Amino acid sequence: MKRKVTKAIFPVAGLGTRFLPATKSIPKEIMTLVDRPLIQYAIEEARAAGIREFIFVTSRGKSALEDYFDSNPILEAELRRKGKTDLLESLRATNMESGAIAYIRQQKAMGLGHAVWCARRLIHDEPFAVILPDDVIAAEKPCLKQMVEAYAETGGNMVAAMEVPQEKTSAYGVLDVAEDMGSMVSVKAMVEKPEPSVAPSNLAVIGRYILTPSVLRSISRTKQGAGGEIQLTDAIADQIGTKEGVYGFRFRGQRFDCGSKAGFLQATVAFGLAREDLREEFSQFLEEMISVKKAAQ
Ligand code: UTP
Repeated sequence: MKRKVTKAIFPVAGLGTRFLPATKSIPKEIMTLVDRPLIQYAIEEARAAGIREFIFVTSRGKSALEDYFDSNPILEAELRRKGKTDLLESLRATNMESGAIAYIRQQKAMGLGHAVWCARRLIHDEPFAVILPDDVIAAEKPCLKQMVEAYAETGGNMVAAMEVPQEKTSAYGVLDVAEDMGSMVSVKAMVEKPEPSVAPSNLAVIGRYILTPSVLRSISRTKQGAGGEIQLTDAIADQIGTKEGVYGFRFRGQRFDCGSKAGFLQATVAFGLAREDLREEFSQFLEEMISVKKAAQ
């Protein structure tokens, strides 16, 4: 019987430089997709997968994130007084049970691996999930839930994976596949940001992981890798060939890279169109925009 995954780490200590100047004072994870910040999509995905303990790795200037998951008694009283029950209800999803959420500081942005390692004392000896909130995934069954279900069969270490265009491999960690079993692949090597000509495949790792505690021990030993950062990929790659091994999981769903401007805009369009209350007006606007653009060509 595999241990249940009940803890998730949300590394949110990055500088978010691709969104400067916005991220000078606003954490990237608070930026809003339609009417919810990125972090809320991540929390809801984690909840749906059975996560009960939420560990944020934060840094200076991220207090808006902590406030977001706190209650706001003045606002709530005002909404109650005005009878705005639907808005009160929307706030409920942002309230966390006392003790369910923990904040750890990463003093220096030394990379994703280092950020995850900062949470090691809260993990103990159990498997845990890692969610990068800037990877937003639209899926019928939330991506982490798909992974938790697959993990119940395989155990080990699991990374979410998706096929990317070959020319884009240098933006991702890329899997060298030992055996392809369809939605699951076993991994024989992982390469961080390979040039397309040397990439072992076009199966890229994206921001969802289920990891064993031995990954944390590997990070302790890991030296700075690509870009001078402590890479999570390197520590996961250390688990290849161990009893637990590493699997890639091809999730069903559409991933948006909300850490990049183009990805964020695409997500805004997709999530806007998915909303019943906005669809008609928004799609009409988009159609007009496209016809104006075509007419100008
Ligand atoms: P990114 O590679 O997107 O970096 O990090 P970033 O700093 O957030 O953004 P850019 O590239 O400067 O625009 C991927 C995830 O890892 C976290 C980030 O917060 C993000 O969720 N991270 C990265 C950390 O928590 N600490 C780090 O040292 C680096």
